[in-house]
Amino acid sequence: MHYESNLEIKLYRLANCDPVMGHFLSLNSPLIIYLVDEKCGLFNIEGIGCDDILKYIVSSRGKEHKEKLSPLMQTIARRGLRAQMAVQGIEGVQVLRSSDFFQNVVGLLGPFQYLDGCNLSHIDYNKFPELSDPKCVLGLFEELDINVGAVHKKNIIHGDVKPGNIVYSNGKLVLIDWVTARTFKENLTYFGLQMMTPRYFYPLSDRSPDYWALSLSFVDVLKINFQLKEDTVRVAFDDLVEFLFRKLTYYFGAEYGVFYKDLANRSPEVVFDFNPQVWRNNKLFELGSVASTNPLEYWESK
Ligand SMILES: Nc1ncnc2c1ncn2[C@@H]1O[C@H](COP(=O)(O)OP(=O)(O)O)[C@@H](O)[C@H]1O
Ligand SMILES: [Mg+2]
Repeated sequence: MHYESNLEIKLYRLANCDPVMGHFLSLNSPLIIYLVDEKCGLFNIEGIGCDDILKYIVSSRGKEHKEKLSPLMQTIARRGLRAQMAVQGIEGVQVLRSSDFFQNVVGLLGPFQYLDGCNLSHIDYNKFPELSDPKCVLGLFEELDINVGAVHKKNIIHGDVKPGNIVYSNGKLVLIDWVTARTFKENLTYFGLQMMTPRYFYPLSDRSPDYWALSLSFVDVLKINFQLKEDTVRVAFDDLVEFLFRKLTYYFGAEYGVFYKDLANRSPEVVFDFNPQVWRNNKLFELGSVASTNPLEYWESK
């Protein structure tokens, strides 16, 4: 009970930055609050499906200072919802019921189907011991690989694949958090570097960013204890792939190394008719130079 009310206080604090959201909560008091962190709250209310949730997001500058989403962020979030709607029905894609801000409240997204389970960055091994079995992890990622392929066939990029955005529920992996999702075409003019998670970000244009991120998520869930380090020059990506390929093959067997390497080396799936790839290559090259001034390296932590 104390836990619940604590979450309630945190949710109302988030909503403090926007009187419209405050008003919404005064009319629709949450029945269950599942999670509230620095930037987001998940809860359900009467009037949406009982297995559904709403997600409220704000911009956060430090612990106390919250702001309603800026116009740029609103555009990005709406585009993400649209992209997510375009891939509804594909296995492993989080179910979303509406492609606009809920009741026009800025930052209020959903309803989404609630997923009972855990995300892959906070695995509860007591509840899901199967996730410590490499064979099970491989099978799950093979499935997710197929599902990401189906998403790309619809010309949609998720854009923020990482363990925290993959939920294990009902024996399957589900991709959540499509705020940065976009069509391949929108990707050409995408300005969202600040929203990506550097560890999973691939700055060049010769490989697929979603698959690159998926390959590293696979490695992270298998826990071979490597880390990306930020204080040396970013060495060749090919070296990283070879290094991880060898480690996975050594620890788990050839099947694991080959699967990882195949994901990591995938090229972008779509080249457009009007060849904006040229523009994109240049743009990504610029982003790559930015990234290399703030470099990353890998090493074995054991
Ligand atoms: N539909 C859902 N069902 C269950 N849990 C969810 C759902 N959506 C998100 N979560 C949980 O909330 C966490 C944060 O959600 P996410 O959409 O990634 O928001 P953000 O990264 O913007 O904070 C996720 O890592 C996951 O654990
Ligand atoms: Mg997330």
